[in-house]
Amino acid sequence: MSVLSEVAAEVRVCTLCELSVSRTNAVPGTGPETAEVFFIGEGPGWHEDQQGLPFVGASGKFLTELIETAGLRREDVFITNVVKCRPPGNRDPLPDEMEACAPYLNRQIETVDPLVVVTLGRFSMSRYFPSERISRIHGQPRVIGRRTVVPMYHPAAALHQGSLRGAIVEDFVQLGKIIAKARAERERGDQPTPEATPAHEQMKLF
Ligand code: URA
Ligand code: SF4
Repeated sequence: MSVLSEVAAEVRVCTLCELSVSRTNAVPGTGPETAEVFFIGEGPGWHEDQQGLPFVGASGKFLTELIETAGLRREDVFITNVVKCRPPGNRDPLPDEMEACAPYLNRQIETVDPLVVVTLGRFSMSRYFPSERISRIHGQPRVIGRRTVVPMYHPAAALHQGSLRGAIVEDFVQLGKIIAKARAERERGDQPTPEATPAHEQMKLF
C-alpha cells in the first residue's frame, strides 16, 4: 500500500482526538502523490463529513474555480485539511485537535513533496507563519526550506465577505505566476536540497 493510502486508512478509523466522536466520515484528503501543489484547508464541513471528501460544499466549488484561475486542474493538486474530522457545528479546531492530527498532515506533505504549499485560512497558515496576520501576508509567497508557501484567505471567508472576493481571485491569478517561477527555479536546480529541509517541517507547529 502507498504511504498516502496508509495514512488515509489510519485517518478513517482514527480516535486520537474528540472529533472522532461526532464525525460521520473522516476526510483524509485527495490528490495524486505526484502533485506539485498542495492545498491545506481548515477542517471538513457538513458536506465533507457526509461524503468523506474535502472541499465538496460551496467553498469547495469556489476553490475549484480558484484552482482553475491559477491555471491548474483540481485533479492534479492535493487537497486536505489541518484536522481530518469535522468540528461540531463548524467551530474552530482546537489546538490539541490540530496537534493530534498534525502527524497525518506531516506524512502527507513529506510523501507528496510538493513544490508549492497553499494554506487556506488562518489555521493552516499558522503551521508556517504562527504569528502573522492573514490580512497582511495573503498572497505573498515565501520560500521555506525547499518549498514555496503561499498563505491565502479561506474561500469560505471570501464567499461570506464580498470585499475579500476580489482579493482572493487576484491572489490566485498571481499563484499561477508563483508556481511557474518555482518550477523554473527547481528545473535550474536553484532550490535547496532535501537534506536542507528545515526543522520547522519536522516540528509540531500548532
Ligand atoms: N472548508 C475547509 O476548510 N475544508 C473543507 O474540506 C471544506 C470546507
Ligand atoms: Fe484523528 Fe485527526 Fe480525526 Fe482527530 S481530527 S480523530 S486526530 S483524524
